[in-house]
Amino acid sequence: MTMNTIEAIKTRRNIKQFKADPIDKSKVISWLEAATFSPNHRMTEPWRITFVGPETRAKLNHKTDFGGAPLVLLLTSQGSAMPIEQEENAYATACFAQSFMLAAHSEGAGTFWSSMAAAPRMREILGVPEAEVVIGIFGVGYPQEVPPAKDRISIESKLTELP
Ligand SMILES: Cc1cc2nc3c(=O)[nH]c(=O)nc-3n(C[C@H](O)[C@H](O)[C@H](O)COP(=O)(O)O)c2cc1C
Repeated sequence: MTMNTIEAIKTRRNIKQFKADPIDKSKVISWLEAATFSPNHRMTEPWRITFVGPETRAKLNHKTDFGGAPLVLLLTSQGSAMPIEQEENAYATACFAQSFMLAAHSEGAGTFWSSMAAAPRMREILGVPEAEVVIGIFGVGYPQEVPPAKDRISIESKLTELP
């Protein structure tokens, strides 16, 4: 599948139901590698990725088991003793998340972003170091169903102009 950037941005959806088909881990790694070109201040490259195996995944007891995604990965951001750096690292890792999702989508795969991993109990199960910020836990696979895009508020209503 080929699509231009604007088309990819507009057609990516949070996938809630995946096919059982496996996903090639080397492809997932290629999308993660593409995402390393995301912006990051002072080249901290703060993103950390943990592949969540079946044993750990079962312990999380997610309500839909990540929509049956064949692969689950945790995305965390390196913390910092400097609050501004920790914040900027989280921004950079959120950019990384979007880049990864778009790379996957542009090659016909889908992603499901869940925030469940941020809860203290989940952090414990996932062994997230205290210094790291949880950005999200993602199901990755081939979509069984692509939900329709939810309407967005007009960008015009978000615009302000300063003199
Ligand atoms: C920080 C963050 C956390 C999210 N957590 C969840 C979640 O826990 N469960 C969920 O179903 N979707 C989650 N989402 C996905 C949003 O619900 C989804 O992006 C939104 O409904 C718009 O749908 P779309 O991505 O298909 O355009 C999260 C998105 C972000 C950015």
